[in-house]
Amino acid sequence: MGDGGGGGGPPTPPPTQASFQQIQDTIFTPICTACHAGAAAPLGLRLDAASSYALLVNVPSVEAPGILRVAPGDPQNSYLVQKIEGRASVGARMPLGGPPLPQSSIDLVRAWIAEGAPAPAGASGTADVFRVVATIPAANAQVDAPIEALHVIFNADVDATLVGAAGIRIEASGGDGVFDNGNEICVPLADVRVSAVNPRMLTVRPVAPLSGDRFRLVLGTSAGIALADVGAHVLDGDADGRAGGEFSVTLDMLPEGTP
Ligand code: HEC
Repeated sequence: MGDGGGGGGPPTPPPTQASFQQIQDTIFTPICTACHAGAAAPLGLRLDAASSYALLVNVPSVEAPGILRVAPGDPQNSYLVQKIEGRASVGARMPLGGPPLPQSSIDLVRAWIAEGAPAPAGASGTADVFRVVATIPAANAQVDAPIEALHVIFNADVDATLVGAAGIRIEASGGDGVFDNGNEICVPLADVRVSAVNPRMLTVRPVAPLSGDRFRLVLGTSAGIALADVGAHVLDGDADGRAGGEFSVTLDMLPEGTP
């Protein structure tokens, strides 16, 4: 853009290769990040340039957990498309409260997904510091429906061989909403695994759906083994910029008003 292509000629034909960068620059950054940014982003969906790809592609929707936000190759069944076209099963058309996106913008998103939702240039499977980008449900979320699975999205591909041995656990507060006071309950887990379609996503499934308490998911260490990415970078759990430390996130399923 900005190279003087105006001047009343015929409209520019649609690009043959829709790039994620273009979607970021023309849709997400100028329109969606008014709400979808930072810790208060609705449903934990941050659409700023540093987060958007990791939180969209092959990541389940929060509103409709049976459908992916972006299912590569399948625009029709991508929740992102359904939300901007106003045909989602839950909630409002996006952008919320604003005019609908022009058809050319919707077509750009559709074309990118149809092409397999390729990553922006420069993205790779590993990073220098391995860290958590987001969880679904989001940290400190007040959740009403029972939670059948927790998803953790990282900034690099998870080494699946370590998942079974690393210290991953869910604790319940024991009904008082307080942790570390001795009455926590360790929630039995049915399954912890790296997603088959998204190597950056870990899914933790309790034996029974979580409800009626405050819960804490901890990605810690067990007998010295912690999560790492495929490049052997150990998780920077406490976000101090260096490998090591526990990651934990709290999910509140107590009735509103509980201290
Ligand atoms: C004014 C604030 C606001 C703006 C701007 C906005 N959203 Fe949203 N978005 C929300 C809220 C609130 C929800 C949850 C309620 C709902 O879906 O109606 C939501 C939900 C979503 C969801 C569902 C996520 C899930 O996991 O279920 C998607 C996808 C989404 N928005 C995409 C977008 C896109 C793309 C844009 C920009 C074109 C956008 N939103 C602009 C507030 C906003």
